[in-house]
Amino acid sequence: NVKPFRVSLLTILATGGCAGQQSVLDPAGRDAEVLATLFWWMLGGAVVLWILMNGILFYVSRAKEREFSRRTAELFIIGGGIVFPTVVLAVLLSYALSEMPRQRDLGSGLTVRVVGESWWWRVEYLPDGWDTPIVSANELRLPTGSRSEIKLAANGVIHSLWIPALGGKTDMIPGRETRMSLEPETPGDYRGQCTEFCGESHALMAFGAVVMEPEAFADWLDKQAQEAAPPTGTESIRGREVFAAEGCGGCHTVRGTPADGLVGPDLTHLADRRTLAAGVLPMTEAAMIDWLRDPEAIKPGVHMPAYGHLDDADLSALATYLLGLT
Ligand code: CUA
Repeated sequence: NVKPFRVSLLTILATGGCAGQQSVLDPAGRDAEVLATLFWWMLGGAVVLWILMNGILFYVSRAKEREFSRRTAELFIIGGGIVFPTVVLAVLLSYALSEMPRQRDLGSGLTVRVVGESWWWRVEYLPDGWDTPIVSANELRLPTGSRSEIKLAANGVIHSLWIPALGGKTDMIPGRETRMSLEPETPGDYRGQCTEFCGESHALMAFGAVVMEPEAFADWLDKQAQEAAPPTGTESIRGREVFAAEGCGGCHTVRGTPADGLVGPDLTHLADRRTLAAGVLPMTEAAMIDWLRDPEAIKPGVHMPAYGHLDDADLSALATYLLGLT
């Protein structure tokens, strides 16, 4: 029976991607609004054209050969084949061109640098007046009310950054700095995704995009600039010992501790992020233990080594320490 399949397919096509954290059609920023407007106008135009073409096809299929004069035929060809597409394309082009200066305007707000890594995101906030960047990973936070510039780079292979609810995508190319700018309008939690095939875990290279009111954002950024809170409680202190003994600090930085590795994500305020492993797992103890035990099972090709040789007590202590990093 084909019917239920057709109905469900239509429902998916009609509603899928129209709402939620990662949708072009549910814009939360100025740039995404332009894209959504263009989409709806083009869809509307396509529907009108489809109906028109099918109407003509139907009419012609029933008409007799000599019903059309040469003049009518010429009018159809010139009007439908030249004038109509020229007018439609000119209108679309002029709308897109009128929006272009704004898209190219890098704004006077915050500057953030995002580097695409193998399969995670290095994020560096560069607010005015700070000499050193505030380093984070796998989550991009932006304030409303201003246009933020995002400098993009890539380490090793090409990636592409896209937050559909906030704007268009821009490629990240090794050895080059590309730029984009975003003007978020509605505070909330959104989702971004790598949109350029970059290797085996390309599909698992996502991130949270959090839009905040300017005051809340400033408070959050001040907190991110601070060193990690020291562990409290025996479990957490033991976890820090495991972290040091296993050499985690060779790859990860935890500011305020001897851990200063630059290979993997900065963990200074890890627990402030909403997801683990670049948008793949929730930030919970169970997920953290799964990740530490066998990252490869969750994200094929990942550079993070497995810590399955640790016993349950050590893994649990390590997870407690990491989830206390705020
Ligand atoms: Cu990074 Cu696809």
